[in-house]
Amino acid sequence: MYTQEPLAYDYDALMPVIDAETVEIHHDRHHAAYTTNLNNAVGKAGLAERPIEELLSDLDSIEDPAVRTAVRNNGGGFYNHNLYFSILSPKPAHEASGKLAARIREQFGTEADLKDALIKAALGQFGSGWAWLSANKEGELFVSATANQDNPLMEGKGLVPIFTLDVWEHAYYLKYKNLRGEYVKAFFDIVDWKKVSELYDRVCG
Ligand SMILES: [Fe+2]
Repeated sequence: MYTQEPLAYDYDALMPVIDAETVEIHHDRHHAAYTTNLNNAVGKAGLAERPIEELLSDLDSIEDPAVRTAVRNNGGGFYNHNLYFSILSPKPAHEASGKLAARIREQFGTEADLKDALIKAALGQFGSGWAWLSANKEGELFVSATANQDNPLMEGKGLVPIFTLDVWEHAYYLKYKNLRGEYVKAFFDIVDWKKVSELYDRVCG
């Protein structure tokens, strides 16, 4: 059984950036449904339970195309949302620390430059999808965007996400309506870069 991570804060804790109703519906319905559907797909197919990162990095090992698609969509939804909710905080650290801070300076110049690159990736994603900051074991950072519930793990290149920004309409539409750009810019006010820095250390520490 794959288990959805509980929220570490109240539904209204991310206001005014994300309203309470959006957090509740997003976590308790959308994220919960991906988790249930993932468990159903894995259970019906009789797949041995593997760590989700390992499973999503090796989708080609699932022979049945229908099961593979179900795991890709729902396993992606399960994993992506666990990461999304875990890097948000009502009391975030606004700057990266330690090795991640040094690497950002080396690759991007400033943290503002990295943020601009992430915003560009998020706004450049047509339709539903995600923007990402990922790292490999060597510590190299990568900015990207994916459609639907895909993520960088699925590329099979050893990239592990450490930051994500959900640009599905369900993530912002109640408050921001069609103004994705307003949501994307405000989103950075609640990103906890201490958490992102910890995730980076786990990938390449
Ligand atoms: Fe979402």
